[in-house]
Amino acid sequence: MKQTLLSGIQPTGKLHLGNYLGAVSNWVKLQHDYNAFFMMADLHALTSIYENPEKLREDKLNLAIDLFSAGIDPDTACLYYQSDVPEHAELHLILSMMTPLPWLERVPTYKSKMAEIKDKDLNTYGFLGYPVLQAADILLFKADIVPVGEDQLPHLELAREIARRFNHLTHTTLFPEPQAKLTHYPAVPGLDGRKMSKSYGNTIPISLSEAEMTPLILKMMTDPNRKLLADPGNPDICPVFTFHKIYTSTDRKDELANLCRTAGIGCVACKKELAHNINASLTQFRAKRNHFESDRGEVQNLLKKSAKKARETASKTLSEVKAAIGL
Ligand code: TRP
Ligand code: SF4
Repeated sequence: MKQTLLSGIQPTGKLHLGNYLGAVSNWVKLQHDYNAFFMMADLHALTSIYENPEKLREDKLNLAIDLFSAGIDPDTACLYYQSDVPEHAELHLILSMMTPLPWLERVPTYKSKMAEIKDKDLNTYGFLGYPVLQAADILLFKADIVPVGEDQLPHLELAREIARRFNHLTHTTLFPEPQAKLTHYPAVPGLDGRKMSKSYGNTIPISLSEAEMTPLILKMMTDPNRKLLADPGNPDICPVFTFHKIYTSTDRKDELANLCRTAGIGCVACKKELAHNINASLTQFRAKRNHFESDRGEVQNLLKKSAKKARETASKTLSEVKAAIGL
Protein backbone atom coordinates (compact mmCIF):
# COMPACT_ATOMS: atom_id res chain seq x y z
CA MET A 1 0.00 0.00 0.00
CA LYS A 2 1.32 3.41 -0.97
CA GLN A 3 1.38 6.18 1.59
CA THR A 4 -0.84 9.18 1.02
CA LEU A 5 0.67 12.52 0.07
CA LEU A 6 -1.11 15.85 -0.10
CA SER A 7 0.14 19.27 -0.96
CA GLY A 8 -1.48 22.53 -1.90
CA ILE A 9 -0.79 25.71 -3.77
CA GLN A 10 -2.77 28.92 -3.88
CA PRO A 11 -4.04 30.18 -7.23
CA THR A 12 -2.88 33.75 -6.72
CA GLY A 13 -0.80 35.14 -9.56
CA LYS A 14 1.08 33.16 -12.15
CA LEU A 15 3.09 30.04 -11.37
CA HIS A 16 6.73 31.15 -11.41
CA LEU A 17 10.12 29.48 -11.61
CA GLY A 18 10.49 29.72 -7.82
CA ASN A 19 7.27 27.71 -7.37
CA TYR A 20 8.35 25.27 -10.04
CA LEU A 21 11.90 24.66 -8.84
CA GLY A 22 11.02 24.73 -5.13
CA ALA A 23 7.80 22.75 -5.09
CA VAL A 24 6.17 21.62 -8.29
CA SER A 25 9.18 19.81 -9.81
CA ASN A 26 9.32 17.85 -6.58
CA TRP A 27 5.62 17.00 -6.79
CA VAL A 28 6.20 15.67 -10.30
CA LYS A 29 8.91 13.36 -8.97
CA LEU A 30 6.93 12.21 -5.94
CA GLN A 31 3.60 11.62 -7.65
CA HIS A 32 4.46 8.05 -8.66
CA ASP A 33 5.63 6.90 -5.24
CA TYR A 34 2.56 7.98 -3.30
CA ASN A 35 -1.17 8.09 -3.47
CA ALA A 36 -0.88 11.76 -4.39
CA PHE A 37 -3.34 14.64 -4.05
CA PHE A 38 -2.42 18.10 -5.29
CA MET A 39 -4.95 20.68 -4.28
CA MET A 40 -5.31 24.13 -5.76
CA ALA A 41 -6.36 26.11 -2.72
CA ASP A 42 -8.95 28.47 -4.12
CA LEU A 43 -10.75 28.80 -0.78
CA HIS A 44 -7.48 29.79 0.84
CA ALA A 45 -6.96 32.30 -1.97
CA LEU A 46 -10.20 33.97 -0.91
CA THR A 47 -8.52 35.06 2.31
CA SER A 48 -6.65 37.63 0.24
CA ILE A 49 -8.49 38.08 -3.06
CA TYR A 50 -12.14 38.09 -2.08
CA GLU A 51 -12.57 41.36 -3.98
CA ASN A 52 -11.56 40.16 -7.44
CA PRO A 53 -13.55 37.21 -8.82
CA GLU A 54 -12.31 37.74 -12.39
CA LYS A 55 -8.70 37.48 -11.34
CA LEU A 56 -9.37 34.37 -9.27
CA ARG A 57 -11.11 32.70 -12.20
CA GLU A 58 -8.19 33.47 -14.48
CA ASP A 59 -5.51 32.48 -11.96
CA LYS A 60 -7.29 29.20 -11.26
CA LEU A 61 -7.44 28.14 -14.87
CA ASN A 62 -3.86 29.20 -15.57
CA LEU A 63 -2.58 27.33 -12.54
CA ALA A 64 -4.25 24.10 -13.60
CA ILE A 65 -2.84 24.43 -17.12
CA ASP A 66 0.64 25.21 -15.77
CA LEU A 67 0.61 22.26 -13.38
CA PHE A 68 -0.51 19.76 -15.98
CA SER A 69 2.04 21.19 -18.42
CA ALA A 70 4.78 20.95 -15.80
CA GLY A 71 4.20 17.22 -15.55
CA ILE A 72 1.47 16.54 -13.01
CA ASP A 73 0.04 13.42 -14.59
CA PRO A 74 -3.76 13.23 -14.44
CA ASP A 75 -3.60 9.44 -14.70
CA THR A 76 -1.32 9.21 -11.69
CA ALA A 77 -2.09 12.06 -9.33
CA CYS A 78 -5.25 13.81 -8.32
CA LEU A 79 -5.08 17.52 -9.18
CA TYR A 80 -8.20 19.40 -8.20
CA TYR A 81 -9.71 22.65 -6.91
CA GLN A 82 -10.33 22.75 -3.17
CA SER A 83 -13.81 24.25 -3.70
CA ASP A 84 -14.79 21.29 -5.93
CA VAL A 85 -14.46 19.08 -2.86
CA PRO A 86 -16.87 20.70 -0.38
CA GLU A 87 -15.75 18.28 2.35
CA HIS A 88 -12.76 20.61 2.87
CA ALA A 89 -15.06 23.41 4.01
CA GLU A 90 -17.17 21.11 6.14
CA LEU A 91 -14.23 19.57 7.95
CA HIS A 92 -12.77 23.03 8.43
CA LEU A 93 -15.96 24.11 10.18
CA ILE A 94 -15.98 21.10 12.48
CA LEU A 95 -12.31 21.43 13.38
CA SER A 96 -12.72 25.17 13.99
CA MET A 97 -15.12 24.36 16.83
CA MET A 98 -12.40 22.64 18.82
CA THR A 99 -9.38 24.72 17.89
CA PRO A 100 -8.43 27.05 20.74
CA LEU A 101 -8.18 30.65 19.61
CA PRO A 102 -4.72 31.20 21.13
CA TRP A 103 -3.32 28.39 18.95
CA LEU A 104 -4.25 30.46 15.90
CA GLU A 105 -3.17 33.80 17.30
CA ARG A 106 0.31 32.50 17.92
CA VAL A 107 0.90 31.01 14.47
CA PRO A 108 3.92 33.05 13.26
CA THR A 109 2.61 33.50 9.70
CA TYR A 110 -0.50 35.18 11.09
CA LYS A 111 1.24 38.18 12.61
CA SER A 112 3.95 38.43 9.98
CA LYS A 113 1.51 38.44 7.04
CA MET A 114 -0.70 40.94 8.83
CA ALA A 115 2.29 43.24 9.26
CA GLU A 116 3.69 42.64 5.77
CA ILE A 117 0.59 42.86 3.60
CA LYS A 118 -0.89 46.33 3.73
CA ASP A 119 -2.86 46.53 0.49
CA LYS A 120 -5.51 44.05 1.63
CA ASP A 121 -7.61 43.83 4.75
CA LEU A 122 -6.53 40.59 6.40
CA ASN A 123 -8.34 41.41 9.60
CA THR A 124 -10.97 38.76 9.00
CA TYR A 125 -12.30 35.66 10.69
CA GLY A 126 -11.30 33.61 7.63
CA PHE A 127 -7.69 34.74 7.62
CA LEU A 128 -7.23 33.82 11.27
CA GLY A 129 -8.67 30.41 10.41
CA TYR A 130 -6.38 29.90 7.40
CA PRO A 131 -4.29 27.21 9.14
CA VAL A 132 -7.42 25.37 10.34
CA LEU A 133 -8.54 25.08 6.72
CA GLN A 134 -5.07 23.84 5.85
CA ALA A 135 -5.27 21.26 8.64
CA ALA A 136 -8.63 20.16 7.24
CA ASP A 137 -7.06 19.80 3.76
CA ILE A 138 -4.43 17.46 5.11
CA LEU A 139 -6.53 15.49 7.59
CA LEU A 140 -9.38 14.97 5.12
CA PHE A 141 -7.11 12.56 3.23
CA LYS A 142 -5.33 11.29 6.33
CA ALA A 143 -2.17 12.33 4.54
CA ASP A 144 1.04 10.78 5.82
CA ILE A 145 3.33 13.14 3.96
CA VAL A 146 3.00 16.83 3.16
CA PRO A 147 5.72 18.30 0.94
CA VAL A 148 6.08 21.96 1.85
CA GLY A 149 8.64 24.71 2.18
CA GLU A 150 10.08 25.72 5.51
CA ASP A 151 7.64 28.63 5.86
CA GLN A 152 4.78 26.14 6.19
CA LEU A 153 6.19 24.18 9.12
CA PRO A 154 4.13 26.05 11.75
CA HIS A 155 0.97 25.14 9.81
CA LEU A 156 2.01 21.49 9.77
CA GLU A 157 2.65 21.58 13.50
CA LEU A 158 -0.80 23.04 14.06
CA ALA A 159 -2.36 20.34 11.85
CA ARG A 160 -0.72 17.73 14.09
CA GLU A 161 -1.97 19.47 17.22
CA ILE A 162 -5.49 19.61 15.84
CA ALA A 163 -5.31 15.92 14.86
CA ARG A 164 -4.17 14.99 18.38
CA ARG A 165 -6.87 17.11 19.97
CA PHE A 166 -9.60 15.61 17.81
CA ASN A 167 -8.43 12.07 18.55
CA HIS A 168 -8.20 12.84 22.25
CA LEU A 169 -11.62 14.48 22.52
CA THR A 170 -13.38 11.75 20.54
CA HIS A 171 -11.41 8.82 22.04
CA THR A 172 -10.48 7.69 18.55
CA THR A 173 -7.37 7.31 16.46
CA LEU A 174 -9.14 8.71 13.45
CA PHE A 175 -6.42 11.06 12.29
CA PRO A 176 -2.81 10.01 11.78
CA GLU A 177 -0.27 12.78 12.39
CA PRO A 178 0.94 14.20 9.10
CA GLN A 179 4.66 14.67 8.55
CA ALA A 180 6.19 17.50 6.57
CA LYS A 181 8.53 16.57 3.75
CA LEU A 182 10.85 19.51 3.39
CA THR A 183 11.95 20.41 -0.09
CA HIS A 184 15.65 21.03 0.32
CA TYR A 185 15.99 23.52 -2.42
CA PRO A 186 17.91 26.78 -2.07
CA ALA A 187 15.64 29.81 -2.27
CA VAL A 188 15.40 30.88 -5.89
CA PRO A 189 16.22 34.57 -6.34
CA GLY A 190 13.86 36.87 -8.19
CA LEU A 191 14.70 39.55 -10.72
CA ASP A 192 15.79 41.94 -7.97
CA GLY A 193 17.96 39.39 -6.14
CA ARG A 194 15.54 38.94 -3.23
CA LYS A 195 13.74 35.61 -2.85
CA MET A 196 11.40 35.08 -5.81
CA SER A 197 7.92 35.80 -4.52
CA LYS A 198 4.75 37.29 -5.91
CA SER A 199 4.56 39.65 -2.95
CA TYR A 200 7.83 41.24 -4.12
CA GLY A 201 6.71 41.47 -7.75
CA ASN A 202 10.04 39.97 -8.86
CA THR A 203 8.90 36.70 -10.38
CA ILE A 204 9.62 34.93 -13.65
CA PRO A 205 6.36 33.26 -14.71
CA ILE A 206 6.89 29.79 -16.13
CA SER A 207 4.28 30.41 -18.84
CA LEU A 208 6.22 33.19 -20.60
CA SER A 209 6.94 32.65 -24.28
CA GLU A 210 10.50 32.65 -25.52
CA ALA A 211 9.98 36.20 -26.84
CA GLU A 212 8.88 37.34 -23.38
CA MET A 213 11.39 35.32 -21.37
CA THR A 214 14.60 36.66 -22.91
CA PRO A 215 14.02 40.39 -22.26
CA LEU A 216 12.89 39.62 -18.73
CA ILE A 217 16.06 37.65 -17.95
CA LEU A 218 18.07 40.56 -19.37
CA LYS A 219 16.52 42.75 -16.67
CA MET A 220 17.78 40.55 -13.85
CA MET A 221 20.02 42.14 -11.26
CA THR A 222 23.70 41.14 -11.36
CA ASP A 223 26.66 41.62 -9.03
CA PRO A 224 25.95 45.23 -7.97
CA ASN A 225 29.68 45.95 -7.61
CA ARG A 226 30.33 45.23 -11.25
CA LYS A 227 29.71 48.62 -12.86
CA LEU A 228 31.88 48.43 -15.96
CA LEU A 229 32.60 45.65 -18.43
CA ALA A 230 36.23 45.83 -17.32
CA ASP A 231 35.34 45.29 -13.64
CA PRO A 232 35.71 41.70 -12.49
CA GLY A 233 32.47 40.26 -11.12
CA ASN A 234 31.63 37.90 -8.29
CA PRO A 235 29.37 35.04 -9.39
CA ASP A 236 28.87 33.95 -5.78
CA ILE A 237 26.67 36.94 -5.07
CA CYS A 238 25.07 37.23 -8.51
CA PRO A 239 21.45 36.01 -8.90
CA VAL A 240 22.08 35.31 -12.59
CA PHE A 241 24.75 32.85 -11.61
CA THR A 242 22.41 31.13 -9.16
CA PHE A 243 20.29 30.32 -12.20
CA HIS A 244 23.30 29.15 -14.20
CA LYS A 245 23.88 26.61 -11.43
CA ILE A 246 20.44 25.22 -12.20
CA TYR A 247 20.15 25.60 -15.97
CA THR A 248 23.70 25.40 -17.32
CA SER A 249 26.00 22.39 -17.69
CA THR A 250 28.62 22.02 -14.96
CA ASP A 251 31.56 22.61 -17.27
CA ARG A 252 30.13 25.70 -18.88
CA LYS A 253 28.96 27.02 -15.50
CA ASP A 254 32.52 26.75 -14.11
CA GLU A 255 33.83 28.41 -17.23
CA LEU A 256 31.36 31.28 -16.85
CA ALA A 257 32.38 31.76 -13.22
CA ASN A 258 36.00 32.16 -14.31
CA LEU A 259 35.09 34.48 -17.15
CA CYS A 260 33.05 36.59 -14.76
CA ARG A 261 35.86 36.83 -12.21
CA THR A 262 38.34 37.91 -14.88
CA ALA A 263 35.98 40.30 -16.67
CA GLY A 264 36.16 37.96 -19.66
CA ILE A 265 32.42 38.06 -20.31
CA GLY A 266 29.90 40.86 -20.04
CA CYS A 267 26.71 40.56 -18.01
CA VAL A 268 24.49 40.94 -21.06
CA ALA A 269 26.16 38.01 -22.81
CA CYS A 270 26.04 35.98 -19.61
CA LYS A 271 22.32 36.66 -19.22
CA LYS A 272 21.60 35.91 -22.88
CA GLU A 273 23.19 32.52 -22.42
CA LEU A 274 21.07 31.92 -19.34
CA ALA A 275 17.89 32.95 -21.17
CA HIS A 276 18.79 30.53 -23.93
CA ASN A 277 19.21 27.68 -21.45
CA ILE A 278 16.01 28.47 -19.57
CA ASN A 279 14.10 28.60 -22.85
CA ALA A 280 15.61 25.27 -23.89
CA SER A 281 14.50 23.68 -20.61
CA LEU A 282 10.92 24.80 -21.25
CA THR A 283 10.45 23.23 -24.68
CA GLN A 284 8.32 20.36 -23.47
CA PHE A 285 6.41 22.52 -21.01
CA ARG A 286 5.52 24.98 -23.77
CA ALA A 287 4.37 22.27 -26.16
CA LYS A 288 2.09 20.82 -23.49
CA ARG A 289 0.86 24.26 -22.51
CA ASN A 290 -0.13 25.04 -26.10
CA HIS A 291 -2.02 21.80 -26.20
CA PHE A 292 -3.96 22.47 -22.97
CA GLU A 293 -4.54 26.14 -23.87
CA SER A 294 -6.23 25.05 -27.06
CA ASP A 295 -8.40 22.50 -25.29
CA ARG A 296 -9.72 24.03 -22.09
CA GLY A 297 -12.61 21.61 -22.16
CA GLU A 298 -10.16 18.77 -21.65
CA VAL A 299 -8.59 20.60 -18.70
CA GLN A 300 -12.00 21.07 -17.09
CA ASN A 301 -12.82 17.39 -17.63
CA LEU A 302 -9.57 16.20 -16.08
CA LEU A 303 -10.16 18.45 -13.06
CA LYS A 304 -13.73 17.25 -12.63
CA LYS A 305 -12.63 13.63 -12.79
CA SER A 306 -9.97 14.25 -10.17
CA ALA A 307 -12.35 16.10 -7.87
CA LYS A 308 -14.75 13.18 -8.07
CA LYS A 309 -11.97 10.79 -7.14
CA ALA A 310 -10.85 13.03 -4.28
CA ARG A 311 -14.41 13.19 -2.96
CA GLU A 312 -14.50 9.40 -2.61
CA THR A 313 -11.79 9.56 0.04
CA ALA A 314 -12.92 12.88 1.48
CA SER A 315 -16.53 11.87 2.04
CA LYS A 316 -15.42 8.68 3.76
CA THR A 317 -13.29 10.60 6.23
CA LEU A 318 -16.02 13.16 6.81
CA SER A 319 -18.54 10.43 7.63
CA GLU A 320 -16.13 8.98 10.17
CA VAL A 321 -15.59 12.44 11.66
CA LYS A 322 -19.32 13.11 11.94
CA ALA A 323 -19.89 9.76 13.59
CA ALA A 324 -17.07 10.34 16.03
CA ILE A 325 -18.32 13.78 17.03
CA GLY A 326 -22.00 12.83 17.33
CA LEU A 327 -23.41 14.55 14.25
N1 TRP B 1 -0.64 27.36 2.72
C1 TRP B 1 0.04 26.74 1.60
C2 TRP B 1 0.93 27.79 0.93
O1 TRP B 1 0.62 28.96 0.94
C3 TRP B 1 -0.93 26.20 0.60
C4 TRP B 1 -1.75 25.07 1.15
C5 TRP B 1 -3.08 25.07 1.36
C6 TRP B 1 -1.26 23.79 1.52
N2 TRP B 1 -3.47 23.88 1.87
C7 TRP B 1 -2.38 23.06 1.97
C8 TRP B 1 0.02 23.20 1.53
C9 TRP B 1 -2.25 21.77 2.45
C10 TRP B 1 0.14 21.90 2.01
C11 TRP B 1 -0.98 21.19 2.47
O2 TRP B 1 1.92 27.40 0.36
FE1 SF4 C 1 26.58 37.81 -12.92
FE2 SF4 C 1 27.25 36.75 -15.24
FE3 SF4 C 1 27.57 39.39 -14.78
FE4 SF4 C 1 29.13 37.62 -13.54
S1 SF4 C 1 29.02 38.00 -15.75
S2 SF4 C 1 28.11 39.38 -12.61
S3 SF4 C 1 27.71 35.93 -13.24
S4 SF4 C 1 25.64 38.27 -14.88
